[in-house]
Amino acid sequence: MKITKIKIKTNTKDYSIIIGRNLINKINKILKINNLSFEKCLIVTDKNIPNNFKKILYQNLRSKKIFSMDVIASEKNKNYNTVNKIHDILFKNRFNREDCVISFGGGIIGDIVGFASSTFKRGLKFINIPSTLLSQVDSSIGGKTGVNNKFGKNLIGSFYQPDLVISDINILNSLPKREIICGYAEILKSSIIESYSSFLYLDRNLKKILELKSPFIEKSIIKSCNLKKMVVQKDEGEKNFRKVLNLGHTFAHAYESTLGFSKKLNHGEAVILGIKSAAEFSLKKSFISKQTFNTIVNHIDKIGMNPKIKSFLKKKHASRILNYMKNDKKNNSNNINLILIKDFGKIKLDFQINSSNLKKYIINSLN
Ligand SMILES: NC(=O)c1ccc[n+]([C@@H]2O[C@H](COP(=O)([O-])OP(=O)(O)OC[C@H]3O[C@@H](n4cnc5c(N)ncnc54)[C@H](O)[C@@H]3O)[C@@H](O)[C@H]2O)c1
Repeated sequence: MKITKIKIKTNTKDYSIIIGRNLINKINKILKINNLSFEKCLIVTDKNIPNNFKKILYQNLRSKKIFSMDVIASEKNKNYNTVNKIHDILFKNRFNREDCVISFGGGIIGDIVGFASSTFKRGLKFINIPSTLLSQVDSSIGGKTGVNNKFGKNLIGSFYQPDLVISDINILNSLPKREIICGYAEILKSSIIESYSSFLYLDRNLKKILELKSPFIEKSIIKSCNLKKMVVQKDEGEKNFRKVLNLGHTFAHAYESTLGFSKKLNHGEAVILGIKSAAEFSLKKSFISKQTFNTIVNHIDKIGMNPKIKSFLKKKHASRILNYMKNDKKNNSNNINLILIKDFGKIKLDFQINSSNLKKYIINSLN
């Protein structure tokens, strides 16, 4: 099976994303080809990754001095406490900046481990082996790392690019269907940002992509990674253009925060509802044609999740939704910044709306 290598060049680091099947079995070879060497490594693993994958990784890294730590992937563990535990292992075992930390998990583990790597002695080697669809298409690329605290999600963090990303598609086979949809949300977002032809590919092959069939899943992952690469290379620090990647996310974060990150609505589902809200709002403001709006909404209806925002959120939630939108990191005044859709491949950045107008819209959408 073909292996794809995507090279990313940023202001701080150049690195590769390797995409294919059975890659963990070849990790030593991949490290060698990518000129990555180290004596010691700490592997921080998501507890839910099946043991057979863990065994393969450990066996293939036998030549190194390996330390390990398992973490339960939950937003509650995405905090300083877990970062401190990682740092303690590194200090106790005299890690230095030439040694390596490997994240073997989804976006939660990757964000924590990336942050711990960037802050340990101001940065040691960091390899990301993303194990969820979301992390393979989104969170493992671009260098955003971070943890939560009592004031909100991802509010503490750094930009720290990995030295290598290894996306082994076989690891996705053990993912629950809901988690596949979660990653699909970001694939859909990328296609809307990119072009109608990218979207059409998803629309025609939706079922095969969600069933992780080759070559459809590979192509979807590669396309999303390439889009993120293009955006990150243009605006690594999210000064302006990188905001396109937040399409649907200002609504999504407010929805999931309002529900207290309940299992009722996971992150990817919230992103899908967020994309729908952004499309509805774009239609209301006459940015998007009725036809493009219908095309997006009809696609969302076929994904296999409940697409009705009203099933998750009620009118009584409107003030809380609005407050979370106001607190979003992307806002710096009383106005709220929305990322809206003009067409496939055409995104409207920084649409400013005042909070009382937005509240009216939210109440109407929940009626
Ligand atoms: N850094 C970024 O640019 C960026 C971008 C998007 C999202 N994020 C962050 O990513 C996180 C969400 O990431 P996620 O969707 O990967 O969630 P996650 O890390 O919570 O993983 C989802 C679930 O899948 C389980 N899991 C992971 N790999 C598995 C496997 N191979 N088989 C079976 N189960 C497995 C996990 O234990 C967890 O229960 C959020 O915290 C979000 O803030 C970061």
